[in-house]
Amino acid sequence: MTALDFSTTLGNAWFPAPIFTASGCASSGRELAQFFDLNSIGGVVTKSVMSKQRHGRPTPRMAETPSGMLNSIGLQGPGIDAFIAKDIPYLLEQKARIIVSIAGETVEEYATLARKLRGISGISALEVNISCPNVENRGLVFACDPDASRRVIDGVRRTIGGELPIIAKLSPDVTDLVHIARGVVDAGADAVALINTVLGMVINIQTLRPHLGGKTGGLSGPAIRPIAVRAIYQVHAALPKLPILGMGGVACGRDALELIAAGASAVSVGTASFGNPTALPTIQNELMELLIAKGFSSLRDAIGYAHRPEETDDN
Ligand code: FUM
Repeated sequence: MTALDFSTTLGNAWFPAPIFTASGCASSGRELAQFFDLNSIGGVVTKSVMSKQRHGRPTPRMAETPSGMLNSIGLQGPGIDAFIAKDIPYLLEQKARIIVSIAGETVEEYATLARKLRGISGISALEVNISCPNVENRGLVFACDPDASRRVIDGVRRTIGGELPIIAKLSPDVTDLVHIARGVVDAGADAVALINTVLGMVINIQTLRPHLGGKTGGLSGPAIRPIAVRAIYQVHAALPKLPILGMGGVACGRDALELIAAGASAVSVGTASFGNPTALPTIQNELMELLIAKGFSSLRDAIGYAHRPEETDDN
């Protein structure tokens, strides 16, 4: 039996452990459930769902890069009605804690999605993905525009009322991330998810043309971890009470602890699970052991530790 309190919160949602799937990397968890119990991790963040079924971008949709990968999926998914009919019951059956991620092309689409999810019991929180880079044009990346970000979150908040926590998923591809974070909090977000992938591109050296069907893609994996740490640190410094769901290149317990020390209250693991389907429980165990080894009695005490003033030696 451990002496460590490993629980965490995002808004008023409580989770017994801090390691979550990352939206888009595990769909609704069916594949990973062959390898571990979905109830044993903090929660499952589902692939961002839109109002209608969507086939996504043309292939190729993936490219390996040094210490990472690019994806150009384009929000492929079944649409909200099929998701509610099939995926929510599945996750409830697994006793998973569910964070439903939604994405839209307009403020109204986000509100429609929120309306359909409102009142479904067993959902812990809504992740409002306003930062998918794989969309028709940069104008659809709401998280790059403070005003558009606020309008989406405000619309969702008005639709769902006060109960369900809203986690706004933000992009690192902005000049002033803290300004965007403040805006979504003012509009009703209870937490932020940092970071979505970083916009990137690969040229195929045979054809000398963009490798990805969608030309650009989102970079993930260890290559972006320092960007995630920086983003989390900056936002936590400015808004220390704001819970952060951190993500970006976490591949072991030490990486997860880095994000937590920067200010994350929980950590999503995505790309690492493609190479190793048991990465999530492994990282969760490693994190727990590390916290105990460092003398923490609760995860909470480690959140934002990197912001504490250094103790000076008086002797
Ligand atoms: O292309 C995609 O479906 C990725 C979504 C995201 O990064 O938010």
